[in-house]
Amino acid sequence: MGSEIGNVREIDQLPGVGPATAEKLREAGYSDLMSIAVASPRELAEAAEIGESTASKIIINARKLADIGNFETGTVLMEKRSKIGKITTGSKMFDELLGGGFETQSITELFGEFGSSKTQIAHQLCVNVQLPKDQGGLESHAFFIDTENTFRPERIVQMAEAYSLDPDEVLEKIHVARAYNSSHQMLLVEKVIDLSKEIPARLLIVDSLTAHFRAEYVGRGALADRQQKLNKHMHDLLRWSDLNNGAVCVTNQVSSKPDTFFGDPTRPIGGHIVGHTATFRIYLRKSKGPKRIARLIDSPHLPEGEAVFTVTEKGIRD
Ligand SMILES: Nc1ncnc2c1ncn2[C@@H]1O[C@H](COP(=O)(O)OP(=O)(O)OP(=O)(O)O)[C@@H](O)[C@H]1O
Ligand SMILES: [Mg+2]
Repeated sequence: MGSEIGNVREIDQLPGVGPATAEKLREAGYSDLMSIAVASPRELAEAAEIGESTASKIIINARKLADIGNFETGTVLMEKRSKIGKITTGSKMFDELLGGGFETQSITELFGEFGSSKTQIAHQLCVNVQLPKDQGGLESHAFFIDTENTFRPERIVQMAEAYSLDPDEVLEKIHVARAYNSSHQMLLVEKVIDLSKEIPARLLIVDSLTAHFRAEYVGRGALADRQQKLNKHMHDLLRWSDLNNGAVCVTNQVSSKPDTFFGDPTRPIGGHIVGHTATFRIYLRKSKGPKRIARLIDSPHLPEGEAVFTVTEKGIRD
């Protein structure tokens, strides 16, 4: 599915991997260096129909080329964490639930059924990230990867005016790109990483994270491939967040039926893959009229809880 741009270059670079082997590896789901680096020789030999000693050599090469990661001391990590920034949601209760707002150096996943306000929150963050620090912003730009054509500049104007900001200036600092399919969506993250050398952005929205993947990878047979792609996508997002001390916010539409949702791990698309990579997961529910309920799930350092907020013409409010 898709053209698998990005990974192709990587695994074809590996010494010992010819085009035919590369193709077999990809078919077996080994589409990036890391997946090969952590494989066992036997697994790889079977998957690519090569000898185990060839497989070992390929693995050794993959380990050299893959970015396995470095150890950092606790002191360095503490120093890094002390630089975490927070973006206000516009609702005090919602901010409190999140320990102050949407955090940088992490991915926050908004999931919920249609109309639960995922896209509204995404718009609000694009405005709020621009606010001065003492008003809950980071005085920065925002990137918006729009997969469902739901970005609305008019809505940004309403939200900006509610803060008495100049709407034109606010729009000027939001950089929006449509993603036409999942491969394009993944490529756009690389583009964002590149552009962020020039544009001082500290927010990256992907709305929706999962819609293209859901539409393109259909059926049981496509599941492993889809999860692997999503996994790579999430790690690219994390890398942007790390490099720029930025907040990533992704949306994921799920069915509102709790049984099917919690019972079947493949149901909320991306399921455990997205869930494990996201630092914060917020489950959004519709309530009466403009009221919405946010529930924080599985946070590493915050208690679970709920917050009620409203979606008004001005934006997200208590
Ligand atoms: N200008 C506005 N003023 C007040 N409320 C608004 C305004 N625009 C949108 N809304 C509210 O936001 C809701 C839509 O929420 P949103 O589009 O964020 O849902 P979503 O979770 O992104 O849904 P989907 O899964 O379909 O993408 C509408 O039902 C409406 O109540
Ligand atoms: Mg939406």
